[in-house]
Amino acid sequence: MPFTFQAPGKVVFGRDTARQLPALVAAVGSAPLVVTGAKASRHQALLTALRQAGLTVTTYAVAGEPTVEAATDGAHLARAAGCDAVIGLGGGAALDTAKAVAALATNTSDAFDYLEVVGAGKPLTEPPLPVVAVPTTAGTGAEATANAVLSVPGRRVKVSLRSPLMLPRLALVDPLLSASMPPTVTAATGLDALTQLLEAFVSNQANPMTDALCREGLGRAARALPAAYADGTNLAAREDMALASLLGGLALANAKLGAVHGFAAPLGGLLAAPHGQICASLLPFVTAANIRALRSRDPGSPSLSAYAAAATLCTGRPQASPEDGAAWLDTLCRQLAAPSLTALGLTAADIPQVVANAAKASSMRGNPVALTPGELADILTGALG
Ligand SMILES: NC(=O)c1ccc[n+]([C@@H]2O[C@H](COP(=O)([O-])OP(=O)(O)OC[C@H]3O[C@@H](n4cnc5c(N)ncnc54)[C@H](O)[C@@H]3O)[C@@H](O)[C@H]2O)c1
Repeated sequence: MPFTFQAPGKVVFGRDTARQLPALVAAVGSAPLVVTGAKASRHQALLTALRQAGLTVTTYAVAGEPTVEAATDGAHLARAAGCDAVIGLGGGAALDTAKAVAALATNTSDAFDYLEVVGAGKPLTEPPLPVVAVPTTAGTGAEATANAVLSVPGRRVKVSLRSPLMLPRLALVDPLLSASMPPTVTAATGLDALTQLLEAFVSNQANPMTDALCREGLGRAARALPAAYADGTNLAAREDMALASLLGGLALANAKLGAVHGFAAPLGGLLAAPHGQICASLLPFVTAANIRALRSRDPGSPSLSAYAAAATLCTGRPQASPEDGAAWLDTLCRQLAAPSLTALGLTAADIPQVVANAAKASSMRGNPVALTPGELADILTGALG
């Protein structure tokens, strides 16, 4: 079972740890570019604290999904302003933009030279600016991963800029920063965290370290997500979700994902829908299809045992079967009002193209069983609702 494990240089986790941000950033650089979502005002107190600590702060607010253009523009800004570090402060979109900006600030060829799938996929040659990743949602775990998912609007697809050099220097996870998420964002991001933990747990590239992280994260997310959705002020639930998200990021960076994220790449480029909602719409259908395919084509697969273990962690029942776990996920997605793919804008006519593009996505390679084009199309048909 040889494996390698990569992680951010340092993880600081806990309520109110954001107070440590100025001192932690000062150890990394003196002139950070702070990448936020559109509502930078949400972070006014932290920005003021950074400036009061003597740091020369440049801000870069980005609305919506990270795009290749936004990352390229941010890299120009970082160079022009003489920035020596990049802070990502926000949801996964802000974190991914920050990671891509840091990479492109020092690797100055066209972004398409480095992009997977639609670009040349060349390795980065220069170390990126150091990244400090501070998530304010609890879902993507992007503070712990080595890639940035970027939209390529002209190609209607989302692809990764990926390099081990892109792992953040520091991940600072303060659950209090996520407490302001409204229920819809809590649901979408939380179901993304749950999806990532499950996909990494049953992945054909799972290893004992990622298994341990996923077990811990799945149990916490299963208990805490309904609680955080029902009451956003439940700080114990927020803390569990922030930790589950971090654990999911650490796991996926080392064990890959699966068909839900294989689909999310083309669907994210096609639909103007939040990433977490796309994942949630697919999760019960992919889980059921994978279990069916494994039972018929690879009944001895360790992934089937992993599905059973996940079912026990989620339902709390020691004898839970993989199918019980799939049913639990379906119920949870309904309870959290996860929309169907139809509600997110997909039509039956889109299915052949999405199936063809999903087959090229890097996450598909971690799926525990190779699904046929027919099975992939059936998943999408089911998820249309
Ligand atoms: N690099 C990776 O490993 C990785 C993994 C999974 C997903 N992603 C990417 O992450 C992105 C999705 O990230 P996300 O799910 O965090 O969504 P997001 O970053 O788009 O944020 C969702 C919404 O919530 C708002 N928001 C953020 N924090 C808030 C808070 N504390 N209170 C209230 N509102 C808040 C944002 O402004 C935005 O409107 C996608 O682009 C996806 O592709 C990356």
